[in-house]
Amino acid sequence: MTEARRMTATRGPAVTFHFEGQPVTGYCGETLATALLAAQVSAFGLTREGTPRLPFCNMGTCFDCVVTVDGQRLVRACLTEARDGLCVTRHQAT
Ligand code: FES
Repeated sequence: MTEARRMTATRGPAVTFHFEGQPVTGYCGETLATALLAAQVSAFGLTREGTPRLPFCNMGTCFDCVVTVDGQRLVRACLTEARDGLCVTRHQAT
């Protein structure tokens, strides 16, 4: 019988960025998607029909996690590291 093993997780220092004007705490080394999901954000963006969008693949393929970061549109949250002072807003489909 094999014994299950767990790797220990170490977090980097805390970082704070803003999502829709609200402060969100993440940790160095985490992606924006991880920090936003941990903060229980329910929509990273909205479809044209107003349906909430959330990360699907979490590896940069689907673009369901796109947000606007410091005015730059279509930034994939699952590939972007959380950093102090970022201004992140929901992506609005046009
Ligand atoms: S979750 Fe699919 S590209 Fe980010």
